[in-house]
Amino acid sequence: MSAPVWNDDTRAAVPSAQLPVADHVNALVVGAGLTGLFTALRLAETGRKVIVAEARSVGACASGASTGKATVLQGNRLSLLAEAFSIDVARDYLRAHRYGFEEILGLCSARRIPFERAGAFTFAGTEQGVKKVRREFEVCRELGLPVSTHDTLHTDFPVHAAVELPDQVQLDPVSLLAGLVSAVVDAGGLIVEGCRVTGLDEAGDRVFVETTAGRLSADHVVLATASPILDHVPTTTELVPHRSYLCAFDLDGPLPEGMFVSVDSPSRTLRSAIVNGRRVLLVGGNGHRTGEAIGTQELVDDLESWTAKHFPGARMTHAWSAQDHHPIGMVPLVTTFGSDQGRVHFAGGYSKWGITGAPAAARSLSDRILGRAETISFGTPTKLGEAKNAMKSHAKTPAMMVGNLVREGLRPKGEAIVDGQEVEVCLVCPHAGGICTWNDAESTWDCPLHGSRFSASGTVLEGPATSDLKRL
Ligand SMILES: Cc1cc2nc3c(=O)[nH]c(=O)nc-3n(C[C@H](O)[C@H](O)[C@H](O)COP(=O)(O)OP(=O)(O)OC[C@H]3O[C@@H](n4cnc5c(N)ncnc54)[C@H](O)[C@@H]3O)c2cc1C
Ligand code: FES
Repeated sequence: MSAPVWNDDTRAAVPSAQLPVADHVNALVVGAGLTGLFTALRLAETGRKVIVAEARSVGACASGASTGKATVLQGNRLSLLAEAFSIDVARDYLRAHRYGFEEILGLCSARRIPFERAGAFTFAGTEQGVKKVRREFEVCRELGLPVSTHDTLHTDFPVHAAVELPDQVQLDPVSLLAGLVSAVVDAGGLIVEGCRVTGLDEAGDRVFVETTAGRLSADHVVLATASPILDHVPTTTELVPHRSYLCAFDLDGPLPEGMFVSVDSPSRTLRSAIVNGRRVLLVGGNGHRTGEAIGTQELVDDLESWTAKHFPGARMTHAWSAQDHHPIGMVPLVTTFGSDQGRVHFAGGYSKWGITGAPAAARSLSDRILGRAETISFGTPTKLGEAKNAMKSHAKTPAMMVGNLVREGLRPKGEAIVDGQEVEVCLVCPHAGGICTWNDAESTWDCPLHGSRFSASGTVLEGPATSDLKRL
């Protein structure tokens, strides 16, 4: 596996900053992905003193590794919502993402972020998917989207039915983040990279925040951490971590025109992208619950073979993986928890549609913090039982599937070779005791409970865990 294909030259130039230890700010935003940066921007624009504390670097997790499609046609999500709940929930969800779509266009125009207009397609790669595609078409029409339907498409891969929504957007997610960073900094926000938040303590009208760079206090804390750190169970259990794979290919000859998402299982997503002046093919899919797949490298190999079959001569240049969280209630979570004071907030769970979801969630969060009436809602699921049913394939109790796990008494021990040295770690996840499994494609230990991930030597890479695996 490699780094994502996205052009490194467009990576955000974050002005070097130290955490102002012992300071007090209006809002501390934890995490510099799309959710954190959009929320920080909205708050900083109203004159609030805002700091973004990022454990790694801007966009280090999903936001810098996505496929870069900004579209309100999102596979068959609208019909799934209409069926699990009601057409009104689907309408609210669509309205929120339309708002997010406009925000993305506004930011691109204000910050000169390059983007391309492209049609979005939901397609059936098999006969079994045709009914789902037809249903998505009906629901889109009912919601007033200008969609058209196709029995097939002139593509190199099989299409048995498709819905098309014209005039959506594709872009380089790393350029998008760079534009956001400059907007946050120009609005007066401070971004501190390499600063992991490890503790929160509410006292009176303040939240005291422990970080690896020191302690400070805030009126409000926003956990824009994909899965809520330091909320030890309630909210994390509403989110199912889901990892999937993306590959980039050089190919002489025509590339697909449009952004394609299949309704089949395993799913496929395809589009072309301009990287370093060259047009490349992106192919993704083979997602699974984090920590549950044995042989993750085989999933990458499978994407490569699928592409070779349909695009002969395609040469794979990059392969990478990232994860997003699927809420069991099916709509993104925007929630406030902690004490009665309502000072600790979380947003996430975009089911891989956060480019338009995050700006909408940021609007909700910032309205909440600023004491304004909330105008954006992703919909209120009313029949949660049915939604849970619809999500049961994602939400099933994780099986203990392990790579090179050795039991030492009752303690599960992991062994890996790091820089030629054997390293042993205790595989009990420091978040809430899940047992991590080996991810051979990325050489990481992944927790199947809530998606925390650790390097081969145990260093925490992604939350909700905030500390490393114990070295043995
Ligand atoms: C393979 C893939 C393809 C995708 N493609 C698309 C697409 O085409 N279109 C679309 O709309 N969406 C897409 N998505 C979804 C989208 O990328 C995500 O929904 C979105 O980026 C989530 O943003 P976020 O800011 O909430 O989370 P993240 O980007 O995960 O950011 C969370 C940040 O919090 C930081 N953090 C965590 N813990 C701490 C801590 N303790 N202290 C400080 N910082 C911390 C992390 O380091 C990270 O930078 C895709 C997702 C995946 C996985
Ligand atoms: S991520 Fe919660 S127990 Fe591992």
